[in-house]
Amino acid sequence: MASFQTTHRRLESKVVIITGGASGIGASSATLFWEHGAFVVIADIRDELGQALVGKLGKRASYVHCDVSKEGDISSLVDTTVAKHGKLDVMYNNAGVVDRPWSSILESIKADMDRVVGVNLYGAFYGAKHAARVMVPRRGGCILFTTSSCTAISGFASHPYMASKCAIVGMAKSLAGELGQHGIRVNCISPHAVAGTRISSEMKGLEGMPAEASKEALGEMGNLKGQVLEPESIAQAALFLASDEANYVSGLNLLVDGGFSVVNPSLMIAAMGMGHPRQ
Ligand SMILES: NC(=O)c1ccc[n+]([C@@H]2O[C@H](COP(=O)([O-])OP(=O)(O)OC[C@H]3O[C@@H](n4cnc5c(N)ncnc54)[C@H](O)[C@@H]3O)[C@@H](O)[C@H]2O)c1
Repeated sequence: MASFQTTHRRLESKVVIITGGASGIGASSATLFWEHGAFVVIADIRDELGQALVGKLGKRASYVHCDVSKEGDISSLVDTTVAKHGKLDVMYNNAGVVDRPWSSILESIKADMDRVVGVNLYGAFYGAKHAARVMVPRRGGCILFTTSSCTAISGFASHPYMASKCAIVGMAKSLAGELGQHGIRVNCISPHAVAGTRISSEMKGLEGMPAEASKEALGEMGNLKGQVLEPESIAQAALFLASDEANYVSGLNLLVDGGFSVVNPSLMIAAMGMGHPRQ
């Protein structure tokens, strides 16, 4: 995992929970938030990985086993955090799963929908609810969700996954309204395919590909050339939204996709098909 050059500590003494913090984007965010002075509570179901990360970070980091699809687990995660640190400043609802790379609606089954919605949407809902329970009396806080660039453009995610992530964006807007009355900011971070993560390695066409080849393929497929999206870039976006630098940012779905979702390449592809070379 890349290390960050830290000058000004942007989360000094803030208490942060990161769900799905044992690997990928969550682990990268835990590392960056910790480097910026936060007390980081990593919540996950992969206990060994989570504990290993805490061991690497040391003081100010802790691990709690928490299955986000269970309201009781989230409720006690929040209570344990407040009992230990006295407050909760940032709740980063990042845990997520995919059902399968992409499948026709004709092949989709209810069990896929149940699992994806159970973790992604219900996990986000419970996370927001129990964070708000302790943030409202303190009249402040920040709630974040990792959503996906599929909230802005379709064609590469399964129907259950896309439904779960779009629902979170809707819920976040609704929460930004209610919780804004209590000084709490609510935002989403929507990554495009992130190199080196379990989720991107399961994408259609990338399954089983060696890490370097998969990174190269993602670079090719992306809109912004010369860059590959890595977990650290999402962690940096989350750091901005979690920090006081974003003190008036709420209700935002921050797309970190190199412009992928605003470009429609069909005209260029058609022009190339007609023999017009790409400029
Ligand atoms: N990797 C990508 O390309 C990509 C793109 C867009 C959005 N996302 C989203 O980013 C988030 C993080 O994914 P990642 O890429 O780091 O993948 P990852 O698999 O490395 O991390 C997800 C983490 O969530 C944990 N988790 C899964 N189910 C859980 C549960 N029920 N309770 C608690 N923790 C649970 C996993 O153990 C894992 O540590 C997810 O919400 C994912 O949907 C990822």
